[in-house]
Amino acid sequence: MLNLVLFGPPGAGKGTQAEFLEREYGLKQLATGDILREAIANGTPLGLEAKAFMNRGELVPDEKVIAIIDECLDQIKGVNGFIFDGFPRTTAQAERLDELIKARNQKIAALLLLDVPRAELLKRLLLRGQQSGRPDDQDESIIENRIEVYARQTKPVADYFEKQGKLIKIDGVGAIHEVTARLQQAIEKLISSSK
Ligand code: AP5
Repeated sequence: MLNLVLFGPPGAGKGTQAEFLEREYGLKQLATGDILREAIANGTPLGLEAKAFMNRGELVPDEKVIAIIDECLDQIKGVNGFIFDGFPRTTAQAERLDELIKARNQKIAALLLLDVPRAELLKRLLLRGQQSGRPDDQDESIIENRIEVYARQTKPVADYFEKQGKLIKIDGVGAIHEVTARLQQAIEKLISSSK
């Protein structure tokens, strides 16, 4: 199994790149943001609770997202591994992910950090805000808050995996296919070093 954490600030390109990695390596993307947006659309209790946090650009409580991942790991079979997209986002989530994965006799191979400067993130998310209905992309102050929340609560997750020797930084600026090629090169290296 190849389990990867695809990491980076809002707008870094995690979702965009996960699509390619799913196809190329037979992995399953687990994007907590997408799962939560679906819960909101379906009006489930989880969605009702998550909505206010998401619309402010704040994190949904740890126990809610950890339960989502735990359930997905139980239910999804027949894949070559998972791409964790937008999870973990706090050190507590990272510790729980390690436990959940170990309990299934697996491991996280690497955290791939897409490095993109703040000005480029703002540009991408404001542009998407004009084209999509995502409420948290509509307002520059909410986008700013998401980037702040990333710096304060989520960045320490990269340090957590760096201590395990699993942090790989990828330049996330450039054409989508250029970023894909950088990710692919890093993953090929991981695969050949694990043989
Ligand atoms: P989530 O859905 O995870 O949103 P996010 O982290 O803000 O990330 P985005 O989806 O906006 O960015 P991305 O890096 O995936 O980039 P994308 O490929 O989409 O989370 C939303 C909310 O849910 C959170 O704020 C929180 O409330 C809650 N939540 C989710 N997970 C949680 C957790 N674990 N714990 C607690 N709360 C949680 O690309 C962005 C745009 O850029 C697109 O328009 C794309 O076309 C464009 N783009 C991509 N790559 C390039 C490129 N190379 N050049 C130019 N444009 C590009």
